Amino acid sequence: MRTAILISGRGSNMVALIEAARAADFPAEIVLVAANRPDAGGLERANAAGIATASVDHRPFGKDREAFERALDEVLRTNQVELIALAGFMRVLTPWFVTRWQGRLINIHPSLLPDFRGTHTHARALEAGVAEHGCTVHFVVPELDAGPTILQANVPVLPGDDEASLSARVLKQEHRIYPQGLALVASGAARLEDPAAASA
Ligand code: GAR
Repeated sequence: MRTAILISGRGSNMVALIEAARAADFPAEIVLVAANRPDAGGLERANAAGIATASVDHRPFGKDREAFERALDEVLRTNQVELIALAGFMRVLTPWFVTRWQGRLINIHPSLLPDFRGTHTHARALEAGVAEHGCTVHFVVPELDAGPTILQANVPVLPGDDEASLSARVLKQEHRIYPQGLALVASGAARLEDPAAASA
């Protein structure tokens, strides 16, 4: 499956996906990394890994989210992309885009969904005093962070944890389960209608 990774920042999950996809039997090929910010650090890392990159800056489109997404969609189509993995892509996507890519659009989220949808998940987990936190690979549906789970990984919240220590523990698991989740979707083992819900 010709796969694009969409990023907004440093792209550590992107690197994990690129590395996993190098295996000969991996069912997804990373053909493009695209960012909504020209200064996203991950673009350089993708270039260094020999992956084609594109940047579609959302700012000139102002509040017109769909116009931005049409420009992004054009780049994806030109590169014959079949599957999209969001990896720290910090733009909320409109129903137009999500419906267009339904079943072929996945995300990694830094919490055990349905807990802590949205942003600042680690701070909110600490504030809530939960004993376990983690991350979720899920299909994207129009409602934010509400799509069916493909894989989850749990980590303990330890005494003395702060946002930095907790996010580092979660990120390590993100790098482990996102490649697994991508492989499940690219191989057809997980589908939007019937996600292979599993705990990793
Ligand atoms: C990751 O923790 C990812 O789960 C999170 O952003 C970080 C990106 O890091 N994504 C979201 O919060 C999406 N709502 P990375 O650029 O190093 O992969």
